[in-house]
Amino acid sequence: MQLRNLSIPAGAVFAPMAGLTDAACRHLMADHGAAWTVSEMASAKALNFGDRKSLELLRDKHPHGLYAVQLFGAEPESMAKAILFIREKGIQFDILDINMGCPAPKITSSGAGSKLLLDPPLCGQMVAAARRALGEDTPLTVKMRIGWDADHMTGVEVARQLEANGADLIAVHGRTREQMYIPPIDTAAIAAIKQAVKIPVLANGDVTDADGAVALLKATGCDGVMIGRGALGDPWLFEQVRAALLGEECPPEPTLNQRMAALRAQIYEMCEEKGEWAAMPQARSQAMHYMKGLRGAAALRRYCSMLEHFTDVDKLIDAVYKLQ
Ligand SMILES: Cc1cc2nc3c(=O)[nH]c(=O)nc-3n(C[C@H](O)[C@H](O)[C@H](O)COP(=O)(O)O)c2cc1C
Repeated sequence: MQLRNLSIPAGAVFAPMAGLTDAACRHLMADHGAAWTVSEMASAKALNFGDRKSLELLRDKHPHGLYAVQLFGAEPESMAKAILFIREKGIQFDILDINMGCPAPKITSSGAGSKLLLDPPLCGQMVAAARRALGEDTPLTVKMRIGWDADHMTGVEVARQLEANGADLIAVHGRTREQMYIPPIDTAAIAAIKQAVKIPVLANGDVTDADGAVALLKATGCDGVMIGRGALGDPWLFEQVRAALLGEECPPEPTLNQRMAALRAQIYEMCEEKGEWAAMPQARSQAMHYMKGLRGAAALRRYCSMLEHFTDVDKLIDAVYKLQ
């Protein structure tokens, strides 16, 4: 796939997840074959107020592979200003992504995230303003849902507006805002969006293995898949999906040693990046994902919830080995 001047490698894209997809997590997924990774979302408005925390969410000093930053906002001019600001502050990125899918009330109450889906022309204006600020070289993508609720299935209309105003790719999470993360995804609604535009569309939702990725592509006719939760604690999923997409033999499942080494390295990098005090609370939820399928997983997850210092990670790993 080609987005403007950017050649995209084969493989699934790693989805943005606030509180989870920090630099350490993104690097791990990129090293295992994610086609690109996306930052946690940052507020255009907060950036325009000079909020340092928002800026640091986007900063990746040594990105692995292609890197997208994601912004949310409800006003076109604010979005454009934020893009100029992050460039001025030296944030490096290959792709700029606009969030039109977040269902959280604290985001939608300001008109941003999935709330934009209720106003397709405004979605187009957001993209047009972002495109003006970005210039012609940098790919501009949008992450959206299929609509707001069953009475407002605006996905097709929104996608057409995005394309007409300069978006290069759309990633579609196959649920409405009202559905949050619960019911099965609506593959027909994703397919309808894919059919409505010429730019590439990624299908997103509930992929946990390579067969699931291939089935989702088949059901939607999309150009690629985006994977979020399924890859947490399982970066090898990207290698498996990549092989399946290329028609290659599936790589072997990771050994326990590989899994524990990846867990340790990820949390080590988190601590290096943001300091142990800030990293460890977030490391707890990352660690829990590595316990999937292990003997004694329930007890091990309790252990994960008590991680306080990096040295506790080694104690957790000892406990894992004792229980297998
Ligand atoms: C904890 C969490 C945080 C998320 N944060 C974001 C975000 O910041 N931006 C975004 O576009 N989507 C966000 N999402 C949605 C995911 O990118 C993805 O669309 C959704 O989880 C469905 O894909 P999956 O089933 O592969 O995880 C988030 C999802 C979760 C579970």
